[in-house]
Amino acid sequence: MKDSKYLTIDEVLNKGSGNVHLRGWVYRERKSNKFVFIVLRDESNIIQCVVSKEKNPELFEEAKKLTIESSIKVSGELKKDERAPTGYEISPVSDLEIIQIAEPFPITAEQSPELLYDNRHLWLRSRKLNAVLKVRHTVVGAIHEFFRSRGYYEFDAPIFQPIQSEGGSTLFEVKYFDDKVYLSQSWQLYAESAVFSLGKIYNMGPTFRAEKSKTSRHLAEFWMAEMEAAWMKLDEVTEVAKDEIRFIIQEVLKHNRKELEILKRDSNLLEYYVKEEYPTIKYTEALDILNNEYQMHVPWGKDLRTIEEAKISEFFKVPVVVTHYPTKIMGFYKPPSNDNPEEALCFDMLAPEGGLEIIGGSERSLLVDDMIKRLEADGEDPLRYAWYFDLRRYGSVPHSGYGLGVERVIQWICGLENIKDAIPFPRTMIRKTP
Ligand code: 4AD
Ligand code: MG
Repeated sequence: MKDSKYLTIDEVLNKGSGNVHLRGWVYRERKSNKFVFIVLRDESNIIQCVVSKEKNPELFEEAKKLTIESSIKVSGELKKDERAPTGYEISPVSDLEIIQIAEPFPITAEQSPELLYDNRHLWLRSRKLNAVLKVRHTVVGAIHEFFRSRGYYEFDAPIFQPIQSEGGSTLFEVKYFDDKVYLSQSWQLYAESAVFSLGKIYNMGPTFRAEKSKTSRHLAEFWMAEMEAAWMKLDEVTEVAKDEIRFIIQEVLKHNRKELEILKRDSNLLEYYVKEEYPTIKYTEALDILNNEYQMHVPWGKDLRTIEEAKISEFFKVPVVVTHYPTKIMGFYKPPSNDNPEEALCFDMLAPEGGLEIIGGSERSLLVDDMIKRLEADGEDPLRYAWYFDLRRYGSVPHSGYGLGVERVIQWICGLENIKDAIPFPRTMIRKTP
């Protein structure tokens, strides 16, 4: 049963006046000869609480013992005070119950990022991560709502997979009894079998890539939100992707104004991304822009690097879909276009403000011989994909899908420098604890 006496700080701030009861943790404390100023923190917000020596000498002595992150219950009078961090304070505190005096907290104001990652289990309490985790909650909820409200079924694929989909170099190999398997790089190949049953499907789940590069945008374990739909072609699937991104941003604007402010993220920009159209261009047009506008001479056939993606996004200033990348640098399942087999029917979506690739997708190849050749060129044994090729033998139809990097979207929406702050406990090549 809810202990009804206690309100959260936000509930108290909404109430605006009266005698209130709160519980939480000491976020900051400052002692003077006459007062102890406590900034109390709970899941919802922070509020200043003032213990006066003159008004309550016994409580004042108690409050002097408090350390950062000590857990307490506080009662007192809520008053407006412009100088207080959230515009109100509890003054005077009329009751204070100490639940635990915290040991000296290992995190102080000025700290190296690595120490914050070492203490991630404690740093989750920071205002920054509290805000990011709330945005993450909204993003994940929005993705489910987006697909469910459009008639997509949620479908689950195995995490242990005997084959690869995104290239052998990033596979995590796992001992599997007397054999070996890989951790899922993507839900896609299994999803392709399910669209012949369910039509339109989606999923969000943990995804693993042994990324050997240390960048601010790659995790070894991340969450991918994927969709797959029978009968869908490239021009349609890119529009679904645009709608999904727009919907996610709308939901964040609806639910997370306060968090965006804490993160110092300009919500006007996000509003702009909701209103504007997102262009679709071909890879070849992207090269033209790079050559003509930025004098970057990227030869046709090379994948776009981070710096080039950044320029494309700088040029458009909204999310942009780039299609028709060179077939030879794309995965085996991305089909050559009929008009020009050098170009694949695939796309990436690049986010503005840095050109982060937030989505990758494609039509799926229906050409078994071509896929076999490309797998062999990659050193794969096509026999292991026999079940996948079956899908092209029993009522094959065009189908398409894409995967959205959940942490990449959070990184972009929150304006985070490093993707590690978009997930509670990041995993990278050099970080696997706590
Ligand atoms: O572009 P990717 O590799 O596409 C696929 O895996 C397809 N099978 C998806 C599909 O069509 N169903 O990955 C999709 C997205 C990327 O655009 C990126 O946003 C994210 O997943 N991503 C990563 N995010 C964080 N860390 C990594 N190491 C990531 N690798 C990919
Ligand atoms: Mg990609």
